[in-house]
Amino acid sequence: MDRAGALAGAVAARGGPRLPAVEWAESLVSTSDRLKALARGGAPEWTAVLADRQTGGRGREGRAWVSPPGGLYLSVLLRPRFERVGLVPLAAGVAVAEAAGELGVPTELKWPNDVLVSGRKLAGVLAEAASGPSGVEWVVLGIGVNVSLDATEVPEEIRATVTSLGAEGAPGAEPADVAARALVRLGLCYDALRSRPGEVLAAWRARAVRWWGEEVEARTGGGTVRGRLLHLDEDGALVLEVEGGERRRLVSGEVARLRPAGGA
Ligand code: BTN
Repeated sequence: MDRAGALAGAVAARGGPRLPAVEWAESLVSTSDRLKALARGGAPEWTAVLADRQTGGRGREGRAWVSPPGGLYLSVLLRPRFERVGLVPLAAGVAVAEAAGELGVPTELKWPNDVLVSGRKLAGVLAEAASGPSGVEWVVLGIGVNVSLDATEVPEEIRATVTSLGAEGAPGAEPADVAARALVRLGLCYDALRSRPGEVLAAWRARAVRWWGEEVEARTGGGTVRGRLLHLDEDGALVLEVEGGERRRLVSGEVARLRPAGGA
């Protein structure tokens, strides 16, 4: 059996979702670009695309995702038929964090779904969706995990901000095993979103970086907002208190602490 088939078998054997089609390439520009093309062509839910390396890996907010061999580059297609679709990206972060936890690597989540170890980035999720007249038609979740990272492959300017499973106490971790664990966990979170979305929110909140009450700066499509971080609401939006006491809900963007711990 090839490794794509082996992955589908491993996920099913652990009680995870049935993967109707899995492609695993040596190299792709971006697994998410490939899967979006399949999604537009009508591919079924849980179709997955993986690559050993990406030449044009994409991150959130238009950033590049450095994708040398040794990482996990996985995209999976979902076609949610429930109301709380907005929570799918958070669920993906929880699933990846849980998979790392199974390998003995404790992580934290930074909204919406950055997976961190001691403030360094271990994994990230890029959620891209398309809508039609009846709502969201598909979501492609692109998951990148630094499994064993050769530091020399990472541009010097971001080297200090990233880490890997290998560096955090799981030196034997393999992309295929991490993929299977993440997909099984994602299946559980996805089922929960249908009828028990509060469980996913609780799991996310339990893993969130402890920035509540602190001053943050959020970069959103509409500009930059500064305020005190209050909480994650029931729709997965981050709520800030801005100057004057007004509350602002963030549904997308990037958040940074203004005075990181240890700073002046
Ligand atoms: C982030 O910026 O944190 C999200 C990174 C997402 C990277 C993954 S790797 C697999 C998939 N293909 C891509 O081009 N991006 C995502």
